[in-house]
Amino acid sequence: MRYHVLTLFPEAFAGPVEHSMLGRAARRGLLSVQVTDIRSYTRDAHGTADDYQFGGGHGMVLKPEPIFEATEEALAAYPMTERGAVPVVLLSPQGRTLNQQLVLELAPAPGLVLICGHYAGVDERVRSHLATHDVSIGDYVLTGGELAAMVVIDAVSRFTPGVVGSAENVQEDSITSGLLQHPLYTRPAEFRGMDTPEVLRSGNHAEIDRWRRQESLRRTLARRPDLLETADLTAADREYLAGLGYSGRADGDSDNNSPRPAG
Ligand SMILES: C[S@@+](CC[C@H](N)C(=O)[O-])C[C@H]1O[C@@H](n2cnc3c(N)ncnc32)[C@H](O)[C@@H]1O
Repeated sequence: MRYHVLTLFPEAFAGPVEHSMLGRAARRGLLSVQVTDIRSYTRDAHGTADDYQFGGGHGMVLKPEPIFEATEEALAAYPMTERGAVPVVLLSPQGRTLNQQLVLELAPAPGLVLICGHYAGVDERVRSHLATHDVSIGDYVLTGGELAAMVVIDAVSRFTPGVVGSAENVQEDSITSGLLQHPLYTRPAEFRGMDTPEVLRSGNHAEIDRWRRQESLRRTLARRPDLLETADLTAADREYLAGLGYSGRADGDSDNNSPRPAG
């Protein structure tokens, strides 16, 4: 996957994309992140990338010309036949909220162009005539699209083969699996009087699998009952859930916001 990030603040990307899994994946040639300063596509001596709003109002607006030109140059690196398959993503609080389904839609693309807005936002013509996707990372407003672009890169990269240890790792993740993941423990077995479940140290893999599945179901029912509506459930899963009082429909009884959930 080739990511092309257009931003007024290229230095913001130095840490996140050079370290950890993304950095390792880039060094192994599994992905690349090309960060372009929108100002380098401006034509005047001052590198003016933003301007006052027509009609007046608070905050500057990013001009369309440098963003169009930088995007067109990024797309020109692809053969004509591939160009249409490269999503041009405008990061915006007005966009479709990022979720795993959208991540999976973006993941097979040969590349992604990510346009980071700033100040009051981006000239509307970028949204209407250049972007193929308008993506929000949640119902809150950031000062710029940089963190949002990093979130997209991180989430999508998990589906580039080889970036995460094994494909199974990704499939076992919360949401991707259709459920929330079971609790995880590591050594020490006992810490400040807090124990770890004995079954996980028993070496009995059938029992471990059963415990994990049931914990995953229990946790999903407690925190995200809506996921059970579409999860791939076996007869044994349904029986277990019935024992927990699940009637087969999401009733919105979520404790997702509790700071230290029991489940
Ligand atoms: C201060 S915001 C502008 C918000 C704009 N005035 C509006 O009401 O839609 C500046 C930039 O941050 C980015 N941004 C802010 N919140 C975001 C979010 N929730 N998801 C993705 N990008 C966001 C966008 O690129 C946006 O152009």
